[in-house]
Amino acid sequence: MRVPALHRIWTGRYTHDARSADQMSTTPGGYLSDLFSLDGRTALVTGGSSGIGRAIAGALARAGASVVVLARKEAELTATVEELTADGCRAAWVSADLSTREGIKAGAEAAAAVFGEPDILVNSAGINLRPPFGELDDEVWDTTMTVNLEAPFLLGRRFGPGMAERGFGRIIHITSQQAHRAFVQSGAYGVSKGALESLARSQAEAWSPNGVTANTLVPGFVMTALNERLSSDPEKVAALAARTMVGRNGLAEDFAGAAVFLASTSSAYVTGQSLFVDGGFSVH
Ligand SMILES: NC(=O)c1ccc[n+]([C@@H]2O[C@H](COP(=O)([O-])OP(=O)(O)OC[C@H]3O[C@@H](n4cnc5c(N)ncnc54)[C@H](OP(=O)(O)O)[C@@H]3O)[C@@H](O)[C@H]2O)c1
Repeated sequence: MRVPALHRIWTGRYTHDARSADQMSTTPGGYLSDLFSLDGRTALVTGGSSGIGRAIAGALARAGASVVVLARKEAELTATVEELTADGCRAAWVSADLSTREGIKAGAEAAAAVFGEPDILVNSAGINLRPPFGELDDEVWDTTMTVNLEAPFLLGRRFGPGMAERGFGRIIHITSQQAHRAFVQSGAYGVSKGALESLARSQAEAWSPNGVTANTLVPGFVMTALNERLSSDPEKVAALAARTMVGRNGLAEDFAGAAVFLASTSSAYVTGQSLFVDGGFSVH
């Protein structure tokens, strides 16, 4: 396979990667590879052992990236990496707790030590604790903000400047419908996801001139461990499916293509955006 040729475009400051038409392969396989291959890239996927994060980790790895998945539970991490390596992918895991600053920082260093500094950072680890809003205590607030918002901020601060220095980087956050509207007890979760969309825009503003994009993927209702309570109620599941335009709820695999696109060179001109992968839920 031909290694994609990159050329540098002067932006007045540093440079960012893009390919000119004459550098693109003209064969069908080569053309697709030039657009979307992640060969030679390294990726860190938090929450990569379950649900949406696991599907994204698999997609990035199968597109050629060396992927580190980070979460707490070793059994799920091991199973994820075993599945990927059995498919011939390059993958490894790091166990870290993103609910404390120390855990976030230690996890970042451990992840970077495996395949080197990441070119692609996916923040999929998330929690949704739902006490009634009037009973939301300091602990729920602090834990939610640390896992859902502070970890993406600190990981971005740790890896973003290096990506900018190298002239290529991709930061992908997973937000929520609750970033845009109150919905099934948004609570602290909705606040954290709204701020995460703002974080993506701030990161995009800071680093896009240096080839680092920051975007968010916005799910609808996806049947994962995160929302077991809702998923176990067939009436609610059917009602949520009916609110989409496609007529079904989301699957973790629905995020694979969008993640590869946002991680690849082909999305160089897409930054600070929210891409809704929700079957039309948000516009119905
Ligand atoms: N499912 C949906 O309908 C939906 C809708 C909108 C947005 N989202 C967002 O999509 C993302 C993925 O959600 P999902 O549905 O795929 O959930 P999931 O299946 O529950 O996966 C969550 C992942 O985060 C990890 N995690 C949780 N707390 C952590 C901590 N303190 N430290 C390190 N890792 C931690 C979990 O692993 P460990 O437990 O082993 O740590 C797991 O790998 C989340 O950000 C969520 O808010 C999901």
